[in-house]
Order: sequence, then C-alpha cells, then structure tokens
Amino acid sequence: MRIFITAVALSLALISAATRFPEAPTGLDNKTNGIVDDVTHRADQAKFEGVEQLSDGLGPLYNAQSCAECHQSPVSGGASQVTELRAGHNGPDRRFRTPDIPIAHGAEVVTGRSLVNDRAICPNAEFPDKEIQERVPETETIRTFRLSLNLLGDGFVEAVADQTLIDLSKQQCKSSHGKICGQILYVPIVESPGQMGVGRFGWKDQHASLLSFAGDAYLNEMGITNRLQPNEVTNICNTVPEPNDTTGPDGLSDIDHFARFIRATKAPARDAALASGAAANKGLGLFEKIGCASCHVETLTTAPTGTKINGGTFTIPAALGSITLHPYGDFLMHDVGTGDGILQATREHYGHQVFQQMSGYLSKQDFESSRNKIRTAPLWGVRLRPRLMHDGASLTLVEAITRHSGEAGHVIKQFEKLKRPEQNAIIEFLKSL
Ligand code: HEC
Ligand code: HEC
Repeated sequence: MRIFITAVALSLALISAATRFPEAPTGLDNKTNGIVDDVTHRADQAKFEGVEQLSDGLGPLYNAQSCAECHQSPVSGGASQVTELRAGHNGPDRRFRTPDIPIAHGAEVVTGRSLVNDRAICPNAEFPDKEIQERVPETETIRTFRLSLNLLGDGFVEAVADQTLIDLSKQQCKSSHGKICGQILYVPIVESPGQMGVGRFGWKDQHASLLSFAGDAYLNEMGITNRLQPNEVTNICNTVPEPNDTTGPDGLSDIDHFARFIRATKAPARDAALASGAAANKGLGLFEKIGCASCHVETLTTAPTGTKINGGTFTIPAALGSITLHPYGDFLMHDVGTGDGILQATREHYGHQVFQQMSGYLSKQDFESSRNKIRTAPLWGVRLRPRLMHDGASLTLVEAITRHSGEAGHVIKQFEKLKRPEQNAIIEFLKSL
C-alpha cells in the first residue's frame, strides 16, 4: 500500500513538474521556438545574415560585415572559429587600463575600449591618405583572443530570472563549502537607462539583455551606429550620418530584428544517437559525481510568462516562460585559472550616455574582482566547436578540462584520478552535447 502511494505521489510530482516546466524546443533547423511565426523568423534571420556595405555605414573600424559571419556554424546563430583581439595594460595602481591606440599617424587616439578592431575601411579611393588600421601598441602587454559564442537558445537564457542566478550562486558556494562561488555581476540595461540586471552574456558576463548586446555588437564588430550606441569609434573616413541603423516601416531597427532573431532560436539539439548511448549516460553520471555540474549546471528554468525583464522593457512571451533548459552552464563568473586579466570597458559596452550616468550604479569593486574570471562556458553545442575555451587555444576536450585550475582545481583532480574508461565516458558525454 505504502509503495503504491509513493509511486502515485512520485508520478504526480513528475507529471506536475513536466506540465509546469516544459522543455525548451531544440533543433539545428533554423525554425522558430514559437515566439514568432516561421515567416517572421526567416525575415529576422535575413537581417542577421545581412552583409553591410560602406553605404550602410560599415566601419570606419570593424571586424566583419555581418553578424552571421561570426555566428554561423552549423546554422545562423551558432558559433564560429572567428576570434577577436583584446588588449590593455596595468596602471601604476595595478588596475587594468584600456589601450591608447593612435590612428591616422597619431592624429587621433582611440581610447576607452579593450577591443582592437582587425579591419578598417580606409585608406580607400575617397580617403587615400587616411591610414586608420588599429594595432596593438608595444605598451599593451595584456592581450587575449576571444572566440565567437553560440547564440542558439539564448532567448531562454535571457528569460532566466536574476534571482534564479543569485540563488544558484549562493547554493553553489554553500554546497562546495566555499570552494566554488560563482560571481554575480550587475550590468546596465542599455535600453533602459538607470536599470541594472544580472549579466549572463559574453565571456565576461558583460550584458544581461540581448538587445543591449545587439547594439554593442553592431557598433563594435561592424561599426554600425544605432540608437543604443550612437557614437562612432572614430569619425575619420566616416561618411554616413549617425545613427546608421534607422527604424524601418515596421517600426523596428536592425538591432530589434537581431534581438528577436536570437530570442526565437531553438536551443542546440544534442547528437541523438550518442545521447542515448550507454557511454554518454555513464559519462553524465560521472560528470555530476566529480563536480563538473556544479558550474556546468545541467538544468535551469525561465521566469513565468508575463514577467517583465530588462528594466521593464521586455515581457517574457509564452514560448519562453516557465521553460526548462539544459545549457550545462551557470552563467556566473569563475576563476578557473584561465583569466585573461581584461576588464570589460564600460563606455565600450554601454555607450557614452550610460557611461556618464553610470558612475553611481556600477560597482567598480565587483568589476575589478572579476578581472581574472570567465563565465562558465555553457556546454550545449560543444561537440560542434573544434576550438575551445575563451581564447580557442585548447584543441581537445581533455586539454580544455585539464586546463581548468583555481575554483575547479579539486574537481579536475577527481577527473585525473578516474580510470581511462571513465574519463572516456565523460568525453563521450561531452561529444553528445
Ligand atoms: C567579428 C565577429 C563577430 C561579429 C561580426 C559579431 N559577433 Fe557576436 N560575438 C563575437 C564574439 C567574439 C563574442 C564573445 C565576445 C566577448 O565576450 O568578449 C560574441 C558574443 C555575442 C553574444 C553573446 C552570446 C552569449 O551567449 O554570451 C551575442 C548576443 C552576440 N555576440 C550577438 C551578435 C550580433 C547581434 C551581431 C551582429 C550585430 C554580432 N554578434 C556580430 C563575435 C562576433
Ligand atoms: C569552478 C567552475 C567549473 C568547474 C568545476 C568545471 N568547469 Fe569547465 N569551465 C568553466 C569555465 C569558467 C570555463 C571557461 C574557461 C575559459 O574559457 O577560459 C569552462 C570551460 C569548459 C570547457 C570548454 C567549453 C568551450 O565551449 O570552450 C569544457 C569542455 C569544460 N569546461 C568541461 C568541464 C568538465 C568536464 C569539468 C569537470 C571535470 C569542468 N569543466 C569543471 C568552469 C568550470
């Protein structure tokens, strides 16, 4: 009798969990997760894949001509091998300083950003004497590459409540007896001046909102000024008036289409054959047992439909509300011994306006203490990325794992103590993600 009741109670609990928190749709098929219809999603995708030209305002300094150039594999919105370059140096107080990069034979100095753009639009026919290519000056001794990230499924990540991440960080610290304590970073929501949110996007958790990220990327990767980032990095060789990105007949700018495209993507699908195999399942058990899952968190749930996020500017739609996702990441900052020592520069990521208003909001201390930390890499889709870690310098999964130290040191020791077949099972599991 008791067994019967327990079984009923258990199955009821399972049913109610399942009905309360449906799984995020997964797929690498360019179809919508349901927040818009497929026709709208295809149109947003075309914007995301749009190749910007000089006449659209490309540059003057830039890295690539379209979002999809770096977020493309295996489908638009995925990751890629493209890296970007960041640099800086330590000030006399040992704090990070962004580089001073002279361009146009020293006529102008680019300041306030750690990004060093790899491309420039001039010298060209119109400006044969303007030489503006950036390069790392000898003085900038702190340098790194940062790999392009996967965006598929990020709409679900954006819809996770700030409080869920705060609770996760506390619980992680408690259950590891202080060894693993993910750091929360509050960052400005650029489209909602004065509002802050828990950062979760970018290697340094520099944004909480996908719209904020789209505005940042459009300017810093492509040189396209927009309503959130209206100031060019340099005006030398600049011909198109600001902002380059203007509102279309549907009332939306390109950055709105980019954000909606990302929000409507499905989460990366696993390799179905490997995922159902015995090795991957054994590997998952070991991954949890030795503590990888403390940071590479298997399951998160989004806030309910109708919740207002991003400073009240975005309401979670039904397709993103109360959903279970499996990102294998906690979106928190950790020191795993790989930090590149580069702080996110505030003016660069949040624009001049927010930068000026912000001194009161942004905790300098928090940002300084995150200097050598990196967001836990979400492992969904990792099988599709041949280069690993923020700098792409680890070329095998075992290499990436054994490169962790710091907060992950004790977990990696456990991994190293495992017998070869058990280590292989963890690798098989990772290859199924
Ligand atoms: C030159 C390559 C490049 C281009 C072009 C580019 N990105 Fe990125 N993107 C990156 C890199 C590199 C990162 C990681 C940056 C970091 O954190 O330092 C990134 C990160 C992101 C993220 C954070 C994803 C996450 O889960 O943390 C979003 C969102 C994003 N890009 C959107 C865009 C959009 C929208 C565009 C077009 C306007 C764009 N990107 C253009 C290279 C690029
Ligand atoms: C203390 C938190 C923490 C623990 C514990 C941890 N990781 Fe990580 N993991 C990270 C962080 C942070 C990164 C990103 C580091 C970087 O890019 O420099 C990362 C990156 C990775 C990557 C590279 C993914 C990519 O897309 O580049 C793999 C693979 C990985 N971890 C597997 C594991 C495995 C397997 C374990 C257990 C043996 C583990 N990790 C334990 C935090 C952790």
